[in-house]
Amino acid sequence: MGRYNRMGIKNLKIDQFCKSKRKLVCLTAYTTYMAEIIDEYCDLVLVGDSLSMVLYGDKNTTRLSLSTMIRHGKAVRKGIKKSILVVDMPKNTYEKSPDIALKNARKIMKETKCDAIKMEGGVAIAKTIKKLVKNNIPVMGHIGLLPQQVTKSSEYRIKGKTKNEENIVTKDLLAVQKNGAFSVVIEGVTERLAIKLCKIAKIKTIGIGATKKCDGQVLVTEDMLGIFDKTAKFVKKYNNLRKIISNSVKKYNSDIVNNKFPTKKNIY
Ligand code: KIV
Repeated sequence: MGRYNRMGIKNLKIDQFCKSKRKLVCLTAYTTYMAEIIDEYCDLVLVGDSLSMVLYGDKNTTRLSLSTMIRHGKAVRKGIKKSILVVDMPKNTYEKSPDIALKNARKIMKETKCDAIKMEGGVAIAKTIKKLVKNNIPVMGHIGLLPQQVTKSSEYRIKGKTKNEENIVTKDLLAVQKNGAFSVVIEGVTERLAIKLCKIAKIKTIGIGATKKCDGQVLVTEDMLGIFDKTAKFVKKYNNLRKIISNSVKKYNSDIVNNKFPTKKNIY
């Protein structure tokens, strides 16, 4: 079955993603120029609702509005040439009913010109996933640890440590898959459960704190660049941007205080 975009036209990028034989590379972006930088090396760029914590300093992702999400989705669209652009549906924009979800998903698709939307949950939103897919809106699922359910940091807990949790997350995967999602993010689960999910999955699995057996991986870009001192165990830091920025600003401060900036090169 082909995947269709907001105009009902086959989405070739999503088709290619689904058929890929190599590991899929995914990262988040919230701004035009970050998107522009990462696009070259990514298959999928996600405007994740993590932006409420990463950009706005919120304690969780639960207070993000649809209009803020769309604003950032539009910004990221400008920076992307080749990757699939996925925009998260914020909490309270899709859970109440499939009709409300469809209205909001259409708004996101139309205004941001993204390729797909992402929603957290499985069994609980099965009818909603089905409705969106039927209406030509490609859906990426998100199962396991669901950040939109978390209000306190103590609730960031790995899923799958009990048989009951394993069953719940497995049922979520089956619901997401059966109702037509093209891919699913598996977040914060035991590796045992992650491997089981990857074996069952017929759609592309994208892991974050899951297993390298997933079809691809996703991280929050600011996490992997080292903007934060403290990050989850599943983050690999590829740089220490916090230190780089701090050292640069220190030097800038020193230049101004010591009258070394601006120089002749910087004035008209
Ligand atoms: O909001 C987000 O950034 C996400 C990814 C971490 C998967 O959902």
